[in-house]
Amino acid sequence: MSERAADVELVDVTKRFGRFVAVERMNVSIARGTFYSLLGPSGCGKTTTLRMIAGFEQPSEGEVLIAGQPVAGVPAYRRNVNTVFQHYALFPHMDVARNVGYGLRQHGVKGEEERRRVDEALALVRLGGLGARRTWELSGGQQQRVALARALVNHPTVLLLDEPLGALDLKLRKEMQLELKALQHQVGITFVYVTHDQEEAITMSDVVVVMRDGRVQQQGSPQELYERPVNRFVAGFLGLSNFLAGRLVEHHPATGGAAVTIGEGMAIHGRVTDPEARPSAGAEVTVAVRPERLWIGRADDAAAERTAGATRVAGRVRQATYLGDQNEYRIETALGELVARRQNSEGGGALPGVGPGDPVLVGWRDEANLVLVA
Ligand SMILES: Nc1ncnc2c1ncn2[C@@H]1O[C@H](COP(=O)(O)OP(=O)(O)O)[C@@H](O)[C@H]1O
Ligand SMILES: [Mg+2]
Repeated sequence: MSERAADVELVDVTKRFGRFVAVERMNVSIARGTFYSLLGPSGCGKTTTLRMIAGFEQPSEGEVLIAGQPVAGVPAYRRNVNTVFQHYALFPHMDVARNVGYGLRQHGVKGEEERRRVDEALALVRLGGLGARRTWELSGGQQQRVALARALVNHPTVLLLDEPLGALDLKLRKEMQLELKALQHQVGITFVYVTHDQEEAITMSDVVVVMRDGRVQQQGSPQELYERPVNRFVAGFLGLSNFLAGRLVEHHPATGGAAVTIGEGMAIHGRVTDPEARPSAGAEVTVAVRPERLWIGRADDAAAERTAGATRVAGRVRQATYLGDQNEYRIETALGELVARRQNSEGGGALPGVGPGDPVLVGWRDEANLVLVA
């Protein structure tokens, strides 16, 4: 076994419901102790994937392995895997401790040992001392912690979480995101986390897989996905992007370096982000540029020559919006409308005296040009 053994593997897994393909030839290897997220829009196959790992669905083709063992034919209750759902069903007639101990009793763990492990699990989710409470006396956030404790009490190899924070309000959700991440770190169990919320996936995960229509688009760290999205879908799903239509002039596969023309024949340089892509000269491509990568200055800014970057375009501010921690500018240019964001930090922030109708210069560096082939 390698140093970081895989806790969950999907090998060429396809799932069909009748003729409908919900998951198509999915290949995933989740290293032990990873916080791993399945991210994608509603209906892309996230829950179906989780249910195949849990044992509630069988793959139509391919193989699921848990801790290195194929699990075809192993029923859900015999897999060392627990699931936390968005709509956690706590037992209303049992107190918190009996809810948490449920899985232990099913496995014949009772009495002092049950009490000890329930207390340990409650402490883990910061509900120590609340074992005697009725579940309906607890807040939504606390109830979700009980569900979490109930899933962790058996020390599963893998914890599956299907949009577990979806029912909570934004502030609580943000708190729970950080707490879940800390908890995962503490227990060291592999978490497979389903969400359609890109910000949530970025905040919590070590590795994210982006799915669309049952197919994996890209896998990587949040930083890799944000900084090197391999296609337009991923670039658009994680964060904001300016998309510029372009035509490929040349591409050097060894480095990814590419020359592209955008607009009315403007030459720019960037990088093809998909290492597998081999676009030919003349191919239509999309150049994605993140809003925070755009430099904006007054049209007559003398420093522009030095600071604006290699690509520069004149424009006019259509809208300036204060967003608290940043300012957003929508700028009409010959390349179409560009969105730029400036962080409100020391030396950054709003451009004094620049508002709607004012002429500006927009510029960016070659490194900001993400050349997308698909
Ligand atoms: N039991 C089922 N029978 C038929 N179609 C299903 C079944 N389960 C899921 N699907 C379909 O498979 C697709 C993926 O569903 P799901 O995995 O729940 O997506 P997600 O969790 O990403 O929103 C959807 O189009 C859904 O309607
Ligand atoms: Mg789902």
